[in-house]
Amino acid sequence: MEKNEKVIILDFGSQYTQLIARKVRECNVYSEIHPFSISKEQLLALTPNAIILSGGPSSVYAEDAPHPSFDVLSLGLPTLGICYGLQLIAYTRAGNVDKAAKREFGKAFLKIKDSHNPLFEGVSLETQVWMSHGDSLNKLPEGFDIIADSDNSPICAISNVEKKIYGVQFHPEVQHSLEGKKILNNFLRNIVGLKDKWTAEAFIETAINEIKSKVGTDTVILGLSGGVDSTVAAVLLQKAIGDQLHCIHVDSGLMRLDESEKLMKLFAENFDMSIELVNGADKFLGEMAGVSDPEQKRKIIGRIFIELFEEAAVNHKDAKWLAQGTLYPDVIESISVKGPSATIKSHHNVGGLPEKMNMKILEPFRELFKDEVREVGRLLGVPAWFIDRHPFPGPGLGIRVLGDVTKEKCDLLRRADDIYINSLLEAGVYNDIWQAFAVLLPVKSVGVMGDERTYEFTCAIRAVTSTDGMTAEWYPMPYDLLEKISNNIINEVRGINRVVYDITSKPPGTIEWE
Ligand code: XMP
Repeated sequence: MEKNEKVIILDFGSQYTQLIARKVRECNVYSEIHPFSISKEQLLALTPNAIILSGGPSSVYAEDAPHPSFDVLSLGLPTLGICYGLQLIAYTRAGNVDKAAKREFGKAFLKIKDSHNPLFEGVSLETQVWMSHGDSLNKLPEGFDIIADSDNSPICAISNVEKKIYGVQFHPEVQHSLEGKKILNNFLRNIVGLKDKWTAEAFIETAINEIKSKVGTDTVILGLSGGVDSTVAAVLLQKAIGDQLHCIHVDSGLMRLDESEKLMKLFAENFDMSIELVNGADKFLGEMAGVSDPEQKRKIIGRIFIELFEEAAVNHKDAKWLAQGTLYPDVIESISVKGPSATIKSHHNVGGLPEKMNMKILEPFRELFKDEVREVGRLLGVPAWFIDRHPFPGPGLGIRVLGDVTKEKCDLLRRADDIYINSLLEAGVYNDIWQAFAVLLPVKSVGVMGDERTYEFTCAIRAVTSTDGMTAEWYPMPYDLLEKISNNIINEVRGINRVVYDITSKPPGTIEWE
């Protein structure tokens, strides 16, 4: 199915812009994010069916406030303004935004005044919404009606039914807006009148055709990291081009317990695909010996990965394409109005490889969010235990063993991590957690086991909930489960005599220790 119908989200710098796109996609409508500064011609060339104006941190009156270079509302397209987007509608249509109004952050109750308005079909007359704004509207823009208010926002939702222009002060895309998705769906289906269903099935069909026509009879190579994205990409590509695809998996020795074996087995049992296994453990651990600085470790791991991958790729000299599992958030990051986000950690990926190897890049998931890739994987028959696995960083245990990395330390950590993760699976809480893992600290301390004094390492266990890894909350792990995990690790892993639980959220912490 073609993307006949699409919604363009203009980004004014909100922390929730990606969430809007994801929620629209959850309503089975294809959506794309573009910066507010897009030109009128570029926007029209995208042939959108509707526009959503995102929130943003600015006041519409601020000197450097983001304003599009043309009047978006005069394009004649159905438009929904969210928070800053609403204020922009007011600003451009002679409404008034009150800078001195009470700030509002957190939960609020929306009181619907016009229950017949198509935006609120099936929505409770009083419903919890999420607010996050400084300025608010105190004069209705011309041609608009107030359709809902809240205690602190007398003008909380507005509409111009005839022109199909709507604005809401709250954030329907945020989970805490309990009927937010229904409201977005009403906008997309009732007001814009969209009919298409953007689904994973539809994506697979289109993607296979696109890959076939792009690649023709060329050979493609793909680096299988063991993660969900590259694995699902491999399965999709194989479906499209069969044995023109060659996969290379580099075992860095920094993987989890039996991870490379499990990966090879997964492919052998489920997909008839050739994968070349490169054993790089000695090289990685050799070059990292004695290095404890985390950034330096990351750089070494990134460099060796590329070297080994290049060596293996020599066998495929005719390969013209390098396939990668790049996701939409990485693509948006590079065009975001905030600019590329500041590098807190130099993430490890194969960036720079295609240029070096003189290959073209194939990125079948450039338009997808992680949840969508998972859905594609499920449909393509990748087993659930694999699809639902927590994210794992490219440099692996290289950054989870703090300080200098040795095989012995990696082995200790692998066993502790495996006990931890299996306990979460057994307790049925694994899927409530975004990411859980063990970390090996470079400190030894005294303990007592039986009648013997021990002097061994400490293992920290971490579990966080999150929607995208950008922010995270520590997971309130039940005490009895913590006790069981601690006992099992200490009893079974000789070399660890203390287990601590990390109760730091992000910010101020990061998810990984390193
Ligand atoms: P931090 O530690 O920055 O991590 O809060 C956010 C998310 O990113 C993952 N992460 C990585 N993923 N290569 C990756 O593919 C990396 O180098 C890398 N470093 C961190 C981390 O596991 C978490 O999910």
